[in-house]
Amino acid sequence: MKRTDSTQATATPTHVHLETFGCQMNEYDSELVRSLMKQDGFVFTDEQERADVILMNTCAIRENAHNKVYKHLSELKKIKRQRPLVVGVLGCMAQNLKEELTEIQPLIDVLAGPDSYRQLPMLIRNALLSQEEGLDQKGLAVDLSEYETYHDVVPDRHDGVNAWIAVMRGCDNFCSFCVVPYTRGRERSRDAEGIILEAHKIAEQGFKQITLLGQNVNSYRFGDWDFARLILAVADVPGIERVRFTSPHPKDFPMPLLEAVVSHPHICKQIHLPLQSGSDRILGLMNRAYTIREYRALVDRIQALRSDIVLSTDIICGFAGERDEDFDETYRLVEEMRFHSAFIFKYSERKNTIAARKFPDDVSEAVKTERVTRLFDLQRNISYGRNREYLKAVLPILVEGDAKRSAAQGMGKSDGNITVIWDKQIVPSQPGDLLSLAIYDASSTTLYAEPPPVS
Ligand code: SAH
Ligand code: SF4
Ligand code: F3S
Repeated sequence: MKRTDSTQATATPTHVHLETFGCQMNEYDSELVRSLMKQDGFVFTDEQERADVILMNTCAIRENAHNKVYKHLSELKKIKRQRPLVVGVLGCMAQNLKEELTEIQPLIDVLAGPDSYRQLPMLIRNALLSQEEGLDQKGLAVDLSEYETYHDVVPDRHDGVNAWIAVMRGCDNFCSFCVVPYTRGRERSRDAEGIILEAHKIAEQGFKQITLLGQNVNSYRFGDWDFARLILAVADVPGIERVRFTSPHPKDFPMPLLEAVVSHPHICKQIHLPLQSGSDRILGLMNRAYTIREYRALVDRIQALRSDIVLSTDIICGFAGERDEDFDETYRLVEEMRFHSAFIFKYSERKNTIAARKFPDDVSEAVKTERVTRLFDLQRNISYGRNREYLKAVLPILVEGDAKRSAAQGMGKSDGNITVIWDKQIVPSQPGDLLSLAIYDASSTTLYAEPPPVS
């Protein structure tokens, strides 16, 4: 018989398999979940077949994120018919679809939203017990909190080069298309001193890069601390070579933050600046709180401070009410901005959002696809041109590991977060090395590097 309380867990440990979908915040939250569960005696396994408990940390941002989870759930249904198994759904989808999920998915035993992970070990233990006793009790913890920052939970980080730190959680912006304010609740920031202390520990453990995370990261505020002050303090931590941050909002870029980014040698010269649309009319409907004129002025300010800064963006095509003229404005603005890269999405109506309540999702699937494809083709050419500008340049590259395609190639990132690849026979490398390499070729997504010429 399986023992599930923590003292006996050492004798017959309960094996947990955790799958993560969605954004970096979910990756980070999965590290928190592993930490909380391990403290309670649970053991993690990469093999789904060995697991007594399967957890899915889910994303709700677009319909295809939902579909991935449903597909996975239907696979679990087969496993659950064959052997005892506790299934838990965590994250944004758990939060947003609580009623629906428990109703339509009888195979789910536990639902826990992003602010409820402290209760997770208890919920899982109860589910295991209930299953042993032949009962079918559901565990549900989906309340959002105004305070939870998990400030005292040390994430169970994977080895590697980068460590995430969530400095704030939640979002108060209520962009009309977005589900995040509903799945992750109100904005709250974590204490600055705790963050800096954690950054020191991360450096001692050998991580070379810290990425500060938040749904709206640059609206960070804790007492006298704003985001500019925080990022400078983290960048000063000895041993940390690079500091990045995501996702910022264009409305929260005061001059001190721009100056911090452009001047501190350890803050990467890269800014993600989600545009969403090039039409003021659509930006208004989206409730984005800036106009194209303001966005352009921000980009001009950034480029005046430092012309080599790498800019990336997010764009939604086919938002409710988007006409050909609106899309043309987006197209022209993307042409003008020449972002280094862009994530381009089809609008996906999310339940309960302002847009779902107020604006009919009236752009046909075919038009959405056509717009995404056109913009994607444009951006691919721009990214190609941008990357070719690096030919012959010698860049500092932080080694992450092997290339996905071949272990004979090393892979790392430029300061601007562009993937760089080289032949390991010519350039031997270890994760965490900071190399100086010359770029000899470039595609729209990748730079190819070799040793710099000897001068
Ligand atoms: N907080 C961040 C990122 C949020 S999600 C920000 O404000 O920038 C990442 C991206 O997903 C968004 O920038 C947006 O482009 C896209 N997105 C969010 N909701 C969407 C929806 N309903 N349909 C399509 N794309 C969406
Ligand atoms: Fe969503 Fe807007 Fe908040 Fe980003 S800023 S998480 S897009 S509501
Ligand atoms: Fe998805 Fe939630 Fe992140 S909806 S994008 S996992 S904040």
